[in-house]
Amino acid sequence: MFRIAYVNGRYLRAAESAVHIEDRGYQFADGVYEVVAVVGGALVDATPHMARLARSLEEMQIAWPVSPRALSHIIAEIVRRNGIGDGMIYLQITRGVAPRDHAFPARARPSLVVTAKRLAPQRPELVVRGVPVITIPDIRWGRCDIKSVSLLPNVLGKQRAKAAGAYEAWQVGADGVVTEGTSTNAWIVDGKGTALTHPADHRILGGITREVVIEVARRADIKVAERPFTVKDVFAAREAFLTSTTSAVLPVVSVDGRPIGSGRPGPVTMQLRERYLAALARQARRIARNAS
Ligand code: PDD
Repeated sequence: MFRIAYVNGRYLRAAESAVHIEDRGYQFADGVYEVVAVVGGALVDATPHMARLARSLEEMQIAWPVSPRALSHIIAEIVRRNGIGDGMIYLQITRGVAPRDHAFPARARPSLVVTAKRLAPQRPELVVRGVPVITIPDIRWGRCDIKSVSLLPNVLGKQRAKAAGAYEAWQVGADGVVTEGTSTNAWIVDGKGTALTHPADHRILGGITREVVIEVARRADIKVAERPFTVKDVFAAREAFLTSTTSAVLPVVSVDGRPIGSGRPGPVTMQLRERYLAALARQARRIARNAS
């Protein structure tokens, strides 16, 4: 839980922080969000996260509530005031407060909320043993590339995973293509050793971790391709894994109860995980050095 939140111009204690009941985020899920990791007190991959935020806002035709520069300052302040070493910031921008009407209000000021919390280190057994996932139908809309707070299908999907004792649910289109998880991107390593993940089109959220992992793979001469794969491909894969800001790179060892490859975390996955975490740590050290 966060201690201090930024809410529309003010830094408030958790118990005092609130938004108006006619905020369009509350009534229509008419807003966007970002989750950014904090490592050693430094905000990592801030630039691509802010670029994705800018894109989400533009696609939704929501104006910046404050300038990007002011937002960076607010985020740094929230990290400081909450005393976050390793954790995450959550920021949400909605179209603002207006009498309920589906069409955009003529004059609403976008609402901005920023919170931060500490995250416990990932449980080692998740990495050592790998995690199970289930598959579910992808029932979402046609613009999953926008990081909108409208997450109902994702919420329902994650609950199904939890009820099944799985870590995540991989969403599958009517064409059999695995798009992504409910809050993570999905990957397999095929029979030729190529790491595959769905192209960053309208069917998935273009994860920042996904982007960084693609870069890391290329630098390490690991074959990587942004290519759709089906459930059938998953069952024929050597390895599987998932990526996100809060999960990093996590091996997936079974899908719908069927083991993938050896049924243990695979070597390509673990190499990508190590290299991804090392790149993150290097970045955090560089930011800390430049700040001192
Ligand atoms: N989830 N796909 C979906 C649907 C997501 O919600 C997320 C992020 C990702 C991975 O994106 P990134 O690598 O940028 O974290 C993929 C965040 C962490 C969340 O909702 O908490």
